[in-house]
Amino acid sequence: GLANTREMFQKAVSGGYAIPAYNFNNLEQLQAIVAACVETASPVIVQVSKGARNYANETMLRYMAMGAVKMAREMGSQIPIALHLDHGDSFELCQACIESGFSSVMIDGSHLPYDDNVALTRKVVEYAHEHDVTVEGELGVLAGIEDEVQAEHSTYTKPEEVEDFVAKTGVDSLAISIGTSHGAFKFKVKPGEEPPPLRFDILYEIEKRIPGFPIVLHGSSSVVPEYVELINQYGGKMEGAVGVSEEQLRKAAASSVCKINIDSDGRLAVTAKVREYLAQNPAEFDPRKYLGAARSELVRLIKHKNKEVLGSAGQA
Ligand code: G3H
Ligand code: 13P
Ligand code: NA
Ligand code: ZN
Repeated sequence: GLANTREMFQKAVSGGYAIPAYNFNNLEQLQAIVAACVETASPVIVQVSKGARNYANETMLRYMAMGAVKMAREMGSQIPIALHLDHGDSFELCQACIESGFSSVMIDGSHLPYDDNVALTRKVVEYAHEHDVTVEGELGVLAGIEDEVQAEHSTYTKPEEVEDFVAKTGVDSLAISIGTSHGAFKFKVKPGEEPPPLRFDILYEIEKRIPGFPIVLHGSSSVVPEYVELINQYGGKMEGAVGVSEEQLRKAAASSVCKINIDSDGRLAVTAKVREYLAQNPAEFDPRKYLGAARSELVRLIKHKNKEVLGSAGQA
């Protein structure tokens, strides 16, 4: 069945790699995730946001994840697959997911005052641990895509708070803010300019205070330039889209960062390939054709991430 994240994280922290956490909302995404992770022998976390639950129906997504485990086993693979709630925003939502069979949940109290974040997270942890479900908490706020100068608007995680937060809440992993953000427009840079580096000084200070504790990075898509170019070439409009470089992610994966969240890159791959396919095959109207092209690209993308960026390939 579905695995929780405890053992996965222990191995990843000591092995110097990160587990990929891929969001999914539909069949083709999940098929691609399973196929790529089986082929690369990578442990994986498949995650469902509140938006995904509303889009695809929570029950449907849960059975799809259980089906994904079956699919992997039928392919002869024993890779661990966790089903995780991404950005849970209330105790009730986390409770519903725990009761229905998710193996891991995030309670995102990062926007709350510190003591309220502690109290809410603690409450979710108590309930989750009774059901052998692992919990991700968050300290520090990621920049929003609407911010003018994003990096300056993030509230980075305060290293002096992490020890107290982890001790008081009992969380299994901690998401931190060191300069990543959600979406396809993470940094405002002029053409040809490099985005600013992540705040590794903060990450290493956190590591010093909670050595070996599993750290999570959200907003970690690279916003693959080839996809942005394809999208723009075939009628899209995504000028200025930019993400976190693979080099920065590799460096993070080698640290106690043991879960790296990727959603936007998958969205870009699908959009790029659907636009390209339909532009090149204007008479085609079978969704299996263009969704199939998108799915094949997703498999390539995920294998690349597992092998060349996160280092999770071969670890299951
Ligand atoms: O952190 C956000 C994830 O990329 C999920 O996005 O809420 O649009 O499903 P969503
Ligand atoms: P990206 O938007 O960078 O893919 O981040 C996804 C994420 O953090 C999901 O929780
Ligand atoms: Na790591
Ligand atoms: Zn996130």
